[in-house]
Amino acid sequence: MDERKKIIPALRYNWLTSLYDPIMRWTMREETFKHQLVTQANIRDRHRVLDLGCGTGTLTLLIKKIHPEAKVDGLDGDEKVLEIARHKMSKLHSDIQFVHGFSFELPYPENAFDRVISSLMFHHLTREDKSKTLHEVYRVLRPGGELHIADWGKAQNAIMRTAFFSVQLLDGFLTTTDHVTGVFPELIRKAGFADVKEENRFMTVYGTLSLYSAKKLD
Ligand SMILES: C[S@@+](CC[C@H](N)C(=O)[O-])C[C@H]1O[C@@H](n2cnc3c(N)ncnc32)[C@H](O)[C@@H]1O
Repeated sequence: MDERKKIIPALRYNWLTSLYDPIMRWTMREETFKHQLVTQANIRDRHRVLDLGCGTGTLTLLIKKIHPEAKVDGLDGDEKVLEIARHKMSKLHSDIQFVHGFSFELPYPENAFDRVISSLMFHHLTREDKSKTLHEVYRVLRPGGELHIADWGKAQNAIMRTAFFSVQLLDGFLTTTDHVTGVFPELIRKAGFADVKEENRFMTVYGTLSLYSAKKLD
């Protein structure tokens, strides 16, 4: 595989992937923050929505459950998590497209989506790939379209900063530092987005989780 297309899997090591769903469910207030993310995205009937770095598809399925009239795609660079996502979907008779692809070269034409939603993927990317990905998201969003992200944010106190070392030890310092130092929203602005806001913030056992929103202007 081309060097640039190596990605960090959901729990860094492939052999940990099958533990991802139970760990998220029991340690991350997953239901609360994913519901909040879908609510803030203000999705409408017939919107086209992309869940970027969809992993095992928990958020993708939640979007479709709350907004059955929306057309939803989930994209991830790891075939193993996509298998889990497709298996979960088959039990629900849902019609989501789960697509294998990479965030920094999205396999979609420009102006394809009304909303791009992404949970816990950006901290897997180097600054260069974050920036390439944000430009790609801008390209595939329609004018007036919105980006909604849940990912690690600037620690709101020393306890949250200390807790975040566990994520940094697992996923590496290279890709996570821009989150804990608070640089990430600036990278979103630099890709052309307007109205970049931190909408919400959760304390978790692994540190501060922030929910961001941003707009591609009409
Ligand atoms: C921590 S998991 C989050 C999964 C899911 N969004 C969630 O919130 O449970 C990060 C996911 O991003 C995917 N990923 C990492 N880098 C990627 C890239 N450049 N393009 C596409 N997917 C990527 C990984 O394969 C993994 O499934």
